[in-house]
Amino acid sequence: MRTHYCADINEEHIGQEVTVAGWVSSRRDHGGVIFIDIRDNDEVVQLVCDPADSQEAHKVADEVRDQYVLIATGKVRARGEGLENPKLKTGKVEIVVSNLIIENRSLPMPFDLDDPKVNEEIRLKYRYLDLRRQKMHNIFKLRSKAAIAARNSLANQNFLEVETPVLTKSTPEGARDYLVPSRVFPGEFFALPQSPQLFKQLLMVSGFDRYFQIAKCFRDEDLRADRQPEFTQIDVEMSFCTQDDVIAVAEQLIRDIFTACGKGDKLPEKFERMPYDEAMEKYGSDKPDLRFDMAMVDVIDIFARSTNEIFSDIAKDKKRNRIKALKVPNGDNIFSKRQMKGFEDYVRKFGAKGLGYFQMKEDGLKGPLTKFFSEDDLKEIIDRCEIKVGDVVFFGAGEKKIVLDYMGRFRLYLAELMDIINKDEYRFVWIVDFPMFEVEDGKVKALHHPFTMPQLNENGELEYDDIEDLKSIAYDIVLNGTELGGGSIRIHKEDIQEQVFKLLGIEEEEANEKFGFLLDALKFGAPPHGGFALGFDRLIMLLANTDSIRDVIAFPKTQRSQCLLTQAPSDIDTEQLKELGLRIRRNINN
Ligand code: AMO
Repeated sequence: MRTHYCADINEEHIGQEVTVAGWVSSRRDHGGVIFIDIRDNDEVVQLVCDPADSQEAHKVADEVRDQYVLIATGKVRARGEGLENPKLKTGKVEIVVSNLIIENRSLPMPFDLDDPKVNEEIRLKYRYLDLRRQKMHNIFKLRSKAAIAARNSLANQNFLEVETPVLTKSTPEGARDYLVPSRVFPGEFFALPQSPQLFKQLLMVSGFDRYFQIAKCFRDEDLRADRQPEFTQIDVEMSFCTQDDVIAVAEQLIRDIFTACGKGDKLPEKFERMPYDEAMEKYGSDKPDLRFDMAMVDVIDIFARSTNEIFSDIAKDKKRNRIKALKVPNGDNIFSKRQMKGFEDYVRKFGAKGLGYFQMKEDGLKGPLTKFFSEDDLKEIIDRCEIKVGDVVFFGAGEKKIVLDYMGRFRLYLAELMDIINKDEYRFVWIVDFPMFEVEDGKVKALHHPFTMPQLNENGELEYDDIEDLKSIAYDIVLNGTELGGGSIRIHKEDIQEQVFKLLGIEEEEANEKFGFLLDALKFGAPPHGGFALGFDRLIMLLANTDSIRDVIAFPKTQRSQCLLTQAPSDIDTEQLKELGLRIRRNINN
């Protein structure tokens, strides 16, 4: 229906007749001459409807309203002097309309498409209108580019795209499953995959060697700004590989996606790696934001010598407890007394019992705690933390897990407050050497999933004194403090898998019931294998510089896992329930 997209019209077309098609983004009646901005999926061009050129077109233009669908034909001409719009690609020209067709009318918009502050509920209810906005088009163009680049990158690296089922059995990624009732087997359910993990491992047993998929995954978990119940992973698995081989594939993939999205120059020559323990000890997180430093420093040995009983008591158990110092350069000059008080309230929310601090003045460290330390110990603190005049040093003391957590959060909180994060930087780090297990309330849990290969001793055996010290061959890729993806080398031998299940307290019967098919497959010549998955939506969020994952998913769910557009989830009729052998109990608590 059109001869040109709006964006393609420029000074070269002056004098030519063109036809454009799109939506009215604004209309202005300037005493007889009507100006219409028409937008297609990329750009706006100005239409001029002057009765002197075409009485008919002007008559139609008079009826035109916001977001009507138009097809306009006319001659391109240069805009008058001083009337150019440098913000538009088409800003030097306009189309003098000779024929205007209203292809469709529109109800008034339920919200102002140009207002960036519109309430999200209304945007999601009318998502098709929200998506009409240029900003959203730009995001989805980026997303499409990234997906195509991912496919090309992996195909170039000899990976084969294979689709795995969506109606399947529960997969162990640690969230709740979405379930789908079976009509043929009343009372039985499919689970939607939390990831294609088990199938991609089976494909390795089938000898596919290198698999990938841009896969939909489903997890019924508490939502946050970077989580959706239905999301997309770039999922990869390969055989006869080491951790380094897998990481090299992932880095090439990231490089190709960034390059396709015009951000290749933002990537480092080499991606950094950091052991999990170091990340936790220095940054209090397994997804450290390294765009700024402010690493924590261990001072438990110095505090052990203090005359304050609370500290010296905590310092007695150096394995279970931590005393960490967090230096804020120039903090003494930046923070007010009130702010300093507020900081303590902040960390208390995350389990801190208090927040000590020292201020570095011209004549040394000051603060209520200094009286508990000898001159030599204070000097050692200054040296170890490299404290300069004007700095503030905060201390967190207590149980390791709690201290690392709140000090890590506090570090981020301060960086945001001081606005020291360079939002233009892309800082990647691979976190490696994850613990194999964590113990919570006496229960052993897999930190990744139970198919992750533990780091074995030189005889190929599991060996450890404390189960929490056992490491795995698992790795996460972190970008600017967000976990972008993760993966591991998998267990391909039955005996090790059995030992891991045993440590996790998964009985043979339960293991067979849940993953018997995978355990069977491991008995039929499973090759050594490993892989990873990148959170595709999170990657696009970071590339598009948006704070909400809902901005990069065309039809997302709310924080309460609802689709406001379709009103899903919704009731189903009794006939359907009957067919499925189901009855609804409205009060699920009894
Ligand atoms: P994992 O569970 O770490 O690993 O998931 C991989 C990546 O997927 C993204 N992600 C999510 N994105 C949006 N919403 C969610 N609810 C959500 N959950 C996860 C994250 C995460 O890093 N099977 C393993 C991978 C492997 O071992 O190969 C897995 O799924 O960016």
